[in-house]
Amino acid sequence: MSADRGPRRGAAGRDTARRAGLPRRTAYDVLAAVEGRQAYANLLLPRLLAERGMAGRDAALATELTYGTLRGLGTYDAILAACSDRPLDKLDPPVLQVLRLGAHQLLATRVGAHAAVATSVDLAKAVAGQRVSGYVNAVLRRVATRDLDAWLPLVTPDPATDPDGCLAVRHSYPRWIVRAYRDALGAAAEAELEPALAAGNQRPRVTLAAFPAGPPRDEIMPETAEPTRWSPYGFTLQAGDPAALVATGAAAVQDEASQLAALALAQAPLDGPDTRWLDMCAGPGGKARLLYGLALQAGAYLVAADLHPHRAALVRDALARASHPGSTGEEGDSPAAFRRTAAGNLPLRPGATVMAADGRRPPWRNAAFDRVLADVPCSGLGALRRRPEARWRKSESDLPALAELQRTLLRSALAACRPGGVVGYVTCSPVPAETSDVVTAVAGSDPAIEILDAPAVLAAVPGVRSPSPRFAQLWPHRHGTDAIFVALLRRTR
Ligand SMILES: C[S@@+](CC[C@H](N)C(=O)[O-])C[C@H]1O[C@@H](n2cnc3c(N)ncnc32)[C@H](O)[C@@H]1O
Repeated sequence: MSADRGPRRGAAGRDTARRAGLPRRTAYDVLAAVEGRQAYANLLLPRLLAERGMAGRDAALATELTYGTLRGLGTYDAILAACSDRPLDKLDPPVLQVLRLGAHQLLATRVGAHAAVATSVDLAKAVAGQRVSGYVNAVLRRVATRDLDAWLPLVTPDPATDPDGCLAVRHSYPRWIVRAYRDALGAAAEAELEPALAAGNQRPRVTLAAFPAGPPRDEIMPETAEPTRWSPYGFTLQAGDPAALVATGAAAVQDEASQLAALALAQAPLDGPDTRWLDMCAGPGGKARLLYGLALQAGAYLVAADLHPHRAALVRDALARASHPGSTGEEGDSPAAFRRTAAGNLPLRPGATVMAADGRRPPWRNAAFDRVLADVPCSGLGALRRRPEARWRKSESDLPALAELQRTLLRSALAACRPGGVVGYVTCSPVPAETSDVVTAVAGSDPAIEILDAPAVLAAVPGVRSPSPRFAQLWPHRHGTDAIFVALLRRTR
């Protein structure tokens, strides 16, 4: 399909027109791939921008249109449905994507109404053919008759009788996620549910972490960056691209809550030896990198594992890039090599090894570690600021299978930990089914498990105590971070 069908133009004119339409066409291509091929916007968009030679304002516009449309899609669909004489689920997918892109421009950007409608009609002709242009024009002209504030009361359910339905449309979330956020906030939901949902639609600034065993944060941080509030390793860029700094190995992109989760495990009180650490679900390696730096300082040895070899490879890269001459991977990468070389006894020196291993059937001995991190696979509903499509892709029916895996991995983490050692259970989700419910179920079935006071370990962070009081829950609207959950557990025997 070509973006430059239309009136006859000379070659130069065609090229100018093609370039003018490129940001919208690129946003459209990402939306279509996200919906049709389950692509990830944060991976596909940078690739298309590079392939199409887009930078500066064009790249910024394509990014804004892509992410803004994916975030606002629930609200836009409600408004489009009110403006269309055909049900949205009967439309050809390309037509629906063009309408969503158009609605976003009309309702949430400073693009003028005439330009938003005209460029959408052009795009519709290019991706769906001439015959749909009248329909797209008519629907978007109806959308353009009101601004977003005027549309919302017309398309949202009555907040008195259906408060969650109203918030779902207003803030563009599936209803089940609104309910899950309400459950996660507990008594605070009355005041905080709406801010929590709104915060999930903000674009986060880029946060990085220095390497604990490398040059200190204040030496490597650009002048315009701001230190994070609680992590001593974090800083936030006001603007600009972190790539150059990341390439030096002195810093890596990592949300502050993710840094705090790794720090909580490393700082939890522990009696006895403290030299053997395990990161059981380590890929792509954000927390493993931080734990590795802390292990080097503490004289501990880190084993970092992930089920998928390609994810383990990302961890290996993350540790290798960290700006410290310490070595990685020296014990071999496979569970067999690990068994052979370490025979279950880890080296008594600071360092790390990375391997592909299944945490459910681990190659390591029971009770081999003093500290164990189980940063388990989860719905990712705590990182919606970064992954705008996640809310539409996950469904409530995914949760039971995830919770089953999470319970298994937590039990395995507890088995890997020696009596008296500490296990950190972490998710990038605030949803009770995969956070507090999992931990209380596992701890409740084994009297040898004690739940530690995680908020006390993160005492410097205000408002981190979750409604189940021994668990820590960070939130975008309270802490400006991802919504990460942290529980700390100890085996007593
Ligand atoms: C939430 S991510 C971990 C993020 C990572 N800790 C970080 O900070 O970058 C969960 C990881 O668990 C891995 N995983 C899934 N099932 C696993 C299993 N059975 N054993 C070990 N790792 C597993 C996934 O491949 C994924 O990389």
